[in-house]
Amino acid sequence: MTSSILGTGSALPEKIVTNDLLATIVDTNDEWIRDRTGICERRIATTETTTTLSVDAARIALEDAGISPEEIELIIVATLTPDGSMPNTACKVQAEIGATNAMCYELNAACAGFMYGVQTAHAFISSGILKHALIIGAETLSKIMDWTDRGTCVLFGDGAGAVVMGPSKEGIIAVEGGADGSKGHVLTCGNAPLINPFVRNEATSPYVDMDGQEVFKFAVRKIPEIVNALSAKGNVSPSDLDLVLLHQANKRIIQTAAKRLGLNEDIFPINLSKYGNTSAASIAILLDEANKSGQLKKGSLVALAGFGGGLTWAGILMKW
Ligand code: COA
Repeated sequence: MTSSILGTGSALPEKIVTNDLLATIVDTNDEWIRDRTGICERRIATTETTTTLSVDAARIALEDAGISPEEIELIIVATLTPDGSMPNTACKVQAEIGATNAMCYELNAACAGFMYGVQTAHAFISSGILKHALIIGAETLSKIMDWTDRGTCVLFGDGAGAVVMGPSKEGIIAVEGGADGSKGHVLTCGNAPLINPFVRNEATSPYVDMDGQEVFKFAVRKIPEIVNALSAKGNVSPSDLDLVLLHQANKRIIQTAAKRLGLNEDIFPINLSKYGNTSAASIAILLDEANKSGQLKKGSLVALAGFGGGLTWAGILMKW
């Protein structure tokens, strides 16, 4: 017995922010952003929150799976941008959708968070501990951007994706993941300083700070490692893969990874031109689009891989 993805959903803010619109806010231009990243526009939350996007994506995934909220025994929301620290976003989703039998928690592994969440649910389901889980990747990254820093604010966007998972004869074949905390400084977002009656620490920046080139090098090295490790564990060759769904950070990262793997770029769907980098949400949104568009067919052999702040990385190999 393994676990499999029974349904997918996604939700995006209504507001579209084009590169040209961004150029009126910060010193940048459409050509630079397209050439260096492949991003043309992104969605930015105005009325939406991490919670409302999560709820909308979850409802669609449940309907797609044909599973009732009461059947869900675990909700994990992967996010680094919750609306608040307590109650956690999964509890808020539970209340909204009526998943009264679920345990609920958040998971932060940055852009690898959704993959970590899927692996966690896989462990629970394949071991028989529980049957159905709802895994959501959701972000409102716009609230942790320094909108005066053109090196970061042009890259990211808001959104959410969700999957319902359950037991299955076929589905997840192999998992792979890891972290390197010693390189955490190349992609950071400050936290609240320790301030109490006994100590007053310096505040750190509340915004995302990134060494773009170091992150780029990490990503193009790590993705082939993940895909090769998954293939070896699954006893298949990377050339057997029908689709590779990667975290959507930068088109050049995806192209370089495809080249290093010796695979055709056509099997790497890309939607970052429309949404930018939505961190924990990106693979879940891409998966929903591949599912609904028919790119994913029954029996497709697919690898999914995420990488990001931490540094963290994780992937799965599955038969759709
Ligand atoms: N618009 C216009 N110019 C910009 C710009 C922007 N938005 N951002 C940076 N520049 C300028 C820089 O100031 C620099 O100018 P200079 O040469 O006069 O100093 C020049 O463009 C080159 O900057 P650099 O940072 O060297 O560009 P790059 O080719 O490394 O591309 C990234 C920058 C961020 C696109 C690239 O490093 C990247 O994609 N890294 C990975 C980031 C990522 O995916 N992070 C999330 C992972 S989960």
